[in-house]
Amino acid sequence: MNASDTTAADLRHPVLQARDLAFGYAKGKPVFTGVSLEVAPREIVCLLGGSGCGKSTLLRTLAHLEPAHAGQTSGQIRFLGEPLSAPHPRAAMVFQQPGLLPWLDAARNTGFGLDFARQPLLQRAQRAQRVQEALEAVGLAGQGGLYPAELSGGMAQRVALARALAREPVLLLADEPFSALDAITRAEMQELLVDVVHRWQTAALLVTHDIDEAILVGDRILLMGGRPGRIVREWRVDIARPRIADAAAFTALRLDLLAALHAARAPGGITASARLPADATLI
Ligand SMILES: Nc1ncnc2c1ncn2[C@@H]1O[C@H](COP(=O)(O)OP(=O)(O)OP(=O)(O)O)[C@@H](O)[C@H]1O
Ligand SMILES: [Mg+2]
Repeated sequence: MNASDTTAADLRHPVLQARDLAFGYAKGKPVFTGVSLEVAPREIVCLLGGSGCGKSTLLRTLAHLEPAHAGQTSGQIRFLGEPLSAPHPRAAMVFQQPGLLPWLDAARNTGFGLDFARQPLLQRAQRAQRVQEALEAVGLAGQGGLYPAELSGGMAQRVALARALAREPVLLLADEPFSALDAITRAEMQELLVDVVHRWQTAALLVTHDIDEAILVGDRILLMGGRPGRIVREWRVDIARPRIADAAAFTALRLDLLAALHAARAPGGITASARLPADATLI
C-alpha cells in the first residue's frame, strides 16, 4: 500500500481544522491569537509571513508538538475530523534542515520515522517496500545505500521528504524546507513537492517567507502578520500549473502579496476594513 490508497474515510473531512487557536510561551507574550484555518484533502496551503510572526510556532502547535502552557493555549484542532490530542502518525513534518542521522544510510534514514510509538507496526517486507517507494517518489531510487556525507544538500532534503512520505501521511507539515537550498535546487524541490503531493494524494501545509514559492506551490495562500500573529488575508491561487507560464497572472498576484506583506508588517498591520473576505479570489 502507498498513500494513493488513502481511504474514502480520510477524505470525508478536512484533513486539518483549527478554530480560534491562540498560543503563548510560558514566559512570553502571546505568539498568535484567533487563528482559524482548514486544509482540505489533497490541498496545498502555504502559510506566508514575515520573520517572527509565529509561523513555525503555529505549525508545531498544529502538529501537537508544542507543549501546552497553562492559560496560554486555547482553541481547537481537529485532524481528519477528530480532536487532536497527540501528534498524529499520518501528519509528517519536514524541516528547514534535513536532520539526517550521519551513521545511517539514506534508506535507513528514510525508514527512521517508522520505528516510533503511535506508528503502526510493519512487517519487515512492508517496511522495506515503504522505504523503497518513498525513495523512488523523491527521485532517489537505487541510492538508498548512500550516507548523508555523500549526499548534496538537495539530495539530503529529498531523503527528509522521503522519510516523511514513508509514514504515508495524509498531511505534510513543512517549515521552510527549501530555504537553505540554492535557487535551482529549490525550484526543483518545489516542483517535486507539488508532484509528490498530487501523486500520493496527500495534503500539505507549507510555511514559507518566499512569495514566489507560495505562488508556485500553493492552491491557497494564508498571510500571517501582526503581534500577536493572526491570519490577516487569504488568496486562492487559480493560475494553471506550471504557474510560471502565466507571467501576467503570476506578477499581479506577486505584487498584491508583496503589498499585503508590507502592510501586515507596518505598525497597526492590516486593518479589518482593508481585509478581503476570507474566500477572496484574486486571480
Ligand atoms: N521555544 C521558544 N520559547 C520562547 N519563545 C519562543 C520560542 N520559539 C519561538 N519563540 C518566540 O515566538 C515568536 C514567533 O517565533 P516563530 O519561530 O514561530 O516565528 P516565525 O514566523 O517562524 O519566524 P521565522 O520566519 O524567522 O522562522 C518569536 O517572538 C520567538 O522569539
Ligand atoms: Mg520559522
